[in-house]
Amino acid sequence: MNILILGSGGREHTFAWKISQSLLCDNLHVAPGNAGTQKLATNADLDIMNFPEVEDYIKNNSIHLMLVGPEAPLVAGIADYFAEKIPGLMVIGPRKKAAQLEGSKAFAKSFMKQYNIPTAKYFEVDMENLEAGISHLKTTKGPYVLKADGLAAGKGVLIIEDQGEAILELKEMLGGKFGDASKKVVIEEFLSGIEFSIFILTDGQYYILLPEAKDYKRIGEGDTGLNTGGMGAISPVPFVNASTIQKVRDRIILPTLSGLQDRNIEYRGFIFFGLINVGDDPYVIEYNCRMGDPETEVVLPRVKNDFVELLEAIFEKDLYEIGLDQDERTAATVMTVSEGYPGKYPKGRTIEIDEIAFDQSLIFHAGTKVENGKVVTNGGRVIAVTSLAPVMQDAIDKSMQTIKSIDFEGKYYRKDIGFDL
Ligand code: AMP
Ligand code: GLY
Repeated sequence: MNILILGSGGREHTFAWKISQSLLCDNLHVAPGNAGTQKLATNADLDIMNFPEVEDYIKNNSIHLMLVGPEAPLVAGIADYFAEKIPGLMVIGPRKKAAQLEGSKAFAKSFMKQYNIPTAKYFEVDMENLEAGISHLKTTKGPYVLKADGLAAGKGVLIIEDQGEAILELKEMLGGKFGDASKKVVIEEFLSGIEFSIFILTDGQYYILLPEAKDYKRIGEGDTGLNTGGMGAISPVPFVNASTIQKVRDRIILPTLSGLQDRNIEYRGFIFFGLINVGDDPYVIEYNCRMGDPETEVVLPRVKNDFVELLEAIFEKDLYEIGLDQDERTAATVMTVSEGYPGKYPKGRTIEIDEIAFDQSLIFHAGTKVENGKVVTNGGRVIAVTSLAPVMQDAIDKSMQTIKSIDFEGKYYRKDIGFDL
């Protein structure tokens, strides 16, 4: 079959790497892709938010299956668009309504409340009830968690110690600090614990539990400084044991799927549960309607199944017959980024990769492109290095070693990935 992947990051290169190994895949396309996907697939220079443009490409290239990498097209309704325009196309990614689990924090919170899914207590505020929101802040203790309702490129969550500052921020958010995304704000109770992520592939009823992961979001070592898209990841997560997984299945995954069914919301795709263990109990911090980046870079290398067979199964209702065949080794990903990231950063810097890198690790391109025959930087996150080893520290050491053979001006990476495990 012919497959199209939408997106251009490390996640999409990893999908392309995995899918290109499948005997079920004839022609693989990635739109818009990067310098890494270009070696495995046909890169298509499409605007993935322009659905008619994507539709033409799908028709011209007889695409059978489309995997949507990032959330923006899903939240904007790409799955609904194609259900109407090309009903036979297999789209990996939920409909607009279901994508609200990620696209609207208020939607996700009320969903969790209705189905008794453990999550932080919350209070929803807009301009109409600003005074009630302020009173709410005044009657609770910090730290205060303020979340923009809509998509804000990973920047929409503020955690503030001081009450006065929290009140000011609340006003600024409602006043448009994050544009329309913060016209509504969710104030959440602060939860204290250790975070991890769980991923499923589901047809809305059955699901396959993929390997779990832990990512490192902050730019600085010791989890300090600004939030980024993700500076590294580890899978498996040592503190996530069989009992944690059982609690996640019973208290979080099952009620989420039965809640979707109860609301007659179809779901075909990935659900990424951002979780926090409070004591021994998992709580949902957030839902995402797609895979994570860089989590995909540690999760997929540990999946031994033919990935296309898994994807196809969610349309054929035989997902429950397929078991996950998992590599027991640890995967460790370290991300190289451009100097300045997550703030302003330069683009177009030449990247050199020593051949030895490919012998010991997997090299996944994130923000790269080919310019005048050379691979150059084209994003904040540039290249992810993933290594596998039976012992976690060895996997980390291997990635730290490999990363030295990747060179571009202003390269930065965290040298402490996995420090807390
Ligand atoms: P989110 O975009 O919802 O994943 O939030 C970004 C980050 O903020 C999370 O990864 C957590 O580290 C933190 N966070 C979000 N909600 C809470 C909460 N209720 N309590 C403590 N930390 C939180
Ligand atoms: N690494 C976090 C995310 O993909 O949302």
